[in-house]
Amino acid sequence: MTAELSPVDMAKYVAAKRAAEFVEPGMRLGLGTGSTAAWLVKILGEKVRGEGLQITGVPTSSRTAALAREQGVPIATLEELKWLDLTIDGADEFDPKLNLIKGGGGALLQEKIVAAASDRMVVITDTSKEVETLGAFPLPVEVIPFGWETTRALIEETLGTVDVDGRDVVLRMAGDAPFVTDEGNRILDLHLKRIGDPRQLSLALNQIPGVVENGLFIDICDAVVIGHGDGMVELRDIQAGTVVQEQVEAEDHENLFTDIAD
Ligand code: A5P
Repeated sequence: MTAELSPVDMAKYVAAKRAAEFVEPGMRLGLGTGSTAAWLVKILGEKVRGEGLQITGVPTSSRTAALAREQGVPIATLEELKWLDLTIDGADEFDPKLNLIKGGGGALLQEKIVAAASDRMVVITDTSKEVETLGAFPLPVEVIPFGWETTRALIEETLGTVDVDGRDVVLRMAGDAPFVTDEGNRILDLHLKRIGDPRQLSLALNQIPGVVENGLFIDICDAVVIGHGDGMVELRDIQAGTVVQEQVEAEDHENLFTDIAD
């Protein structure tokens, strides 16, 4: 079955598989959202069902919660667990300092709260997400529905004062209607092309009334596992200052390779 995976799916799968090795019995684990994180949840489900691995996951979206339940991964809320050992999640972009853009799937708010509540955050990704400077991927910003057009105008005004190359702010749609987050909010996608100072931009955005949170993850990610289409993974740990390359064997579990999420 693994032969049927595209190189991108193979890259996501091996990144998730290698990252799953960081998971130890008894851990309280943040479960990310997106197609790469979905691989992780499936791999963890296999370990829970097949090896009796005991973990408790905190999902970062209703989608991930549904997948975890389906895969038999025990879940709890962050209110119940309060602090987590490890969060493993995908990203839309990461830079050399492992600063991230997240929220392409619209789950940035829970993802950021969960990652910030974890001793360690590991990002799993394919090679396409690596950039020298953040900003080619539109930056998602979650805003409350009340007065969102005013909030957008204030965001546009703010973008005139920070170091970015683009200023288009677009309301995310789901078909004919605005996209609605798990918290009932809206997403504005900021087409910035280049973000010169991510920390300054993040602070400036979060000061605007109506902005709930933005998709910049600054100094939150500790390590990244980058999967390649040939099964190679690269582990970069910003805390330890190490870079390691390994080959990951794809296993032939029919269960795992059917119904690829997202
Ligand atoms: C979800 O809101 C996002 O932050 C995802 O983690 C991000 O979009 C990565 O998704 P993929 O793994 O599907 O690329």
